[in-house]
Amino acid sequence: MNSQKITIAIQKKGRLFDNSKDLLLKSGIKFTTSGEKLLARSSNTNIDILLVRDDDIPSLVSKGVADLGIVGQNVLAEQAATNKQIVAKEILSLGFSKCRLSFAKPLTSKLRSLKNKSIATSYPGLVKKYLVKNNLKSNVIKINGSVELTPYIGIADCICDLISSGATLEANNLIEFKHLMDSQAVLIAKTKFHDIERIDVLNLIRRFEGVINAAESKYVMLNADLSSADKICKLLPGADSPTIIPLQEKSKVAIHALCSEPVFWETMEKLKKNGASSILVMPVEKILN
Ligand code: PRP
Ligand code: ZN
Repeated sequence: MNSQKITIAIQKKGRLFDNSKDLLLKSGIKFTTSGEKLLARSSNTNIDILLVRDDDIPSLVSKGVADLGIVGQNVLAEQAATNKQIVAKEILSLGFSKCRLSFAKPLTSKLRSLKNKSIATSYPGLVKKYLVKNNLKSNVIKINGSVELTPYIGIADCICDLISSGATLEANNLIEFKHLMDSQAVLIAKTKFHDIERIDVLNLIRRFEGVINAAESKYVMLNADLSSADKICKLLPGADSPTIIPLQEKSKVAIHALCSEPVFWETMEKLKKNGASSILVMPVEKILN
């Protein structure tokens, strides 16, 4: 699909890698990664994939070394808070690697406010910004790894770190007490594209959107009494104008719908209670609206 070479930077290994790779592959970009190789050439599109540390992605895209990048909002926001040269812009939320940046303290700590406290974090830029905004004077200590241990070795009163499942906090007897920001993986782009590049990038974004929308969507098929069709259609989550097909048995219809929201067991049980039968919920691979 591409006439102009597009370079996309993604994380080499770590929590973003699998989902980033998956998104590119599902978007029809074929490539293979091997070992320590920094560059993967797509075999079927004019796209190069740069495999780098996620911390390097905002600057590579800001400098135009990569046209696009996939990175956590937390990484982009932290770098933008401390470095004016980070000009890459977020252009699409990708829906994976969802987490939050929060303050946490030991379960036994009596700490109530951040005022005059020592805070250990890998996100000093964002924490300092938060403190200024809230008119708080505190000591921010930059730590690159194992932030969660710092309250126990006397380095800090509390921490500010990413929380995803909460397992790390729990394992270290820490409790979240203040939320700073939500984060997820986003597609970022350099600021200037020339016309041909822009068309290719827009096509690519449309494919990414197609994959993301499909991930949340389900195709639902069920049978129901004609008389309950209206009620059942209203119960289908995020369905836009379902298809209603007559069945051989005159009083019955089949209802097919693309649901843009998750279809939980509870929803299926409600559908059944309202007269639906043979309810099938199927995955959707791609959507082009
Ligand atoms: C983040 C964060 C915590 C952990 C939280 O680290 O710093 O250690 O994830 O996740 P949980 O709530 O699911 O336990 P990450 O795995 O990104 O690695 P890093 O800190 O070594 O960069
Ligand atoms: Zn960590």
